[in-house]
Order: sequence, then C-alpha cells, then structure tokens
Amino acid sequence: MRIHASIASLREARAVAGRVAFVPTMGNLHDGHIALVQAARQHAGIDAVIASVFVNRLQFGQGEDFDKYPRTFEADCEKLAAAGVDHLFAPDEAVMYPQPQRYCVEPDPVHASILEGAFRPGHFRGVATIVLKLFNIVQPDGAIFGKKDYQQVMVLKNMVRELALPIDIIALDTTRAADGLAQSSRNGYLTMEERAEAPRLYRQLSFIAEAVRQGAGDFARLEAAALTELEQNGWKPDYLTVRRRTDLQAPKEPEEPLVVLAAARLGTTRLIDNIEI
Ligand code: PAF
Repeated sequence: MRIHASIASLREARAVAGRVAFVPTMGNLHDGHIALVQAARQHAGIDAVIASVFVNRLQFGQGEDFDKYPRTFEADCEKLAAAGVDHLFAPDEAVMYPQPQRYCVEPDPVHASILEGAFRPGHFRGVATIVLKLFNIVQPDGAIFGKKDYQQVMVLKNMVRELALPIDIIALDTTRAADGLAQSSRNGYLTMEERAEAPRLYRQLSFIAEAVRQGAGDFARLEAAALTELEQNGWKPDYLTVRRRTDLQAPKEPEEPLVVLAAARLGTTRLIDNIEI
C-alpha cells in the first residue's frame, strides 16, 4: 500500500489506477471499516482500492469530540494494508484546508436539519463538503459507506445525484459485535459497564423493527416505550423514530420501506444506530 500525504501524489497514482473504489474514513479503524474495504475490493470491475484517513474538523460542532477523536494512524495503516488497500490518502489539515473552507456544499435542509442534523447543526454541510472534496481529488468510480450512518448515506446519495457526479454510492450493512452493538470508533469511549449496557440500543431497535414487521402500526407508542426503557437504564436519548427510508421523513403510506433510527448518550458517549424494517 502506498501512502500519499499530498493531493498531487494521490492524483498521480490515481491517473494510472484504472477503475477505483474509494473508502473514505476518519481513521481509528474497526471491523466495520475493513468490511467496507472488502466490499470495495469485490466491487465489479474494480482495479484498485483507495482509502482515506482524515479527521474532518468541518463536520464536528462546538463542544463535540474533534480534539479527542482517536488518531491511530500506524494501526490504521496496518489494517488497511492487510485488507488489500492499494493507495491511502492521508492528508493533514494544511493540505485539505490550507485556508478556511469558504465554498461549502449545503445539503437540502429537509434532509440535513432533521435527526442527526437537529442535534448536530452544520454536521452534514461538513460531511458533504469534505466528501465532495475527496471525490474531486480521488475521482473514484464507486464509493463505499456504512449504513450505520444512515442519514449520511442518504445525504451523500442525493448530493451525487443532484450534482451529477459519475460515482456509484454503495451502502453496506452495519457490522455488529456478537451482542448486536454497532461497530463504531466511538465505542472505544465506553467504560466496561457502559459497554455491557450499550447493546440495549440495538435490542430496542430490533424489538420495534420486529413489531412493525409483524404488523404493528402505532409507531408513536413503540417509540415512547423504547425511549422510556432507555431512560430507565441511564441513557439520554436524542431521538428514536420510525421513518421512511428514502428521505427519513415521517412515513405516510402503509407500504413504504421503513427504517428505525436512534441516537442516545450513554455517559459521555453518543451512540447512533438504525435497522431497516
Ligand atoms: O463516515 C465517516 O467516517 C465520515 O463522515 C466521512 C464520510 C469519512 C467524512 O469525513
């Protein structure tokens, strides 16, 4: 695996790389990221896999964990090389933001101001901006994202469609620990007791998903019961809600494909998860 710190070096390599699948990350890699790399390798017609590691200041709000976000570059490189990544783009801030980023991608507020966007104002603007910038540098044919960040995938699919970018966005199912906890870089913040408690979020989502599959239609009651269960066990939920998959708005038609999504704080750690119904 070749490591590129500059845009020029990455572009030179990309120019002769053929069809490229791209896996953007913020590092601190876990099994979920490795699954994205494996999916990238298996993507039809792909000649090379490019990954990136960049902790993007622009998508963190005031008081969020930008400074303490774990930077584990050496271990990340070992994992990516072992997973078969051909090129790693690992710029520092001076490369990606040599001056304050004044031109940004403003996602549709209908998509970006709800759920995560309501609790993390400006988050999806930061995500869309860095992803478009990375796309412009890497020029991939396809890019792989995890469905754990369900709203992020929805925003990015819409960005790619509306800006006519010739890039396939591939969304991969969430990788989970044996007890159901979604793999996340932020799981490392959990104490031992919190780690034991954390799968409750997945269990509550699974319960709702199963109930809806069995025909339950009173989403508000299911959501309220799950929120109470979390609160009684020490969680501080931001939201837990059944939405339609396409745009994450409240469902209107009976047959719409649905997803149940949640974000909740356990101690100082904010976890998100979702299950397609
Ligand atoms: O999902 C992430 O890790 C980040 O939001 C991404 C897509 C790498 C952009 O910084």
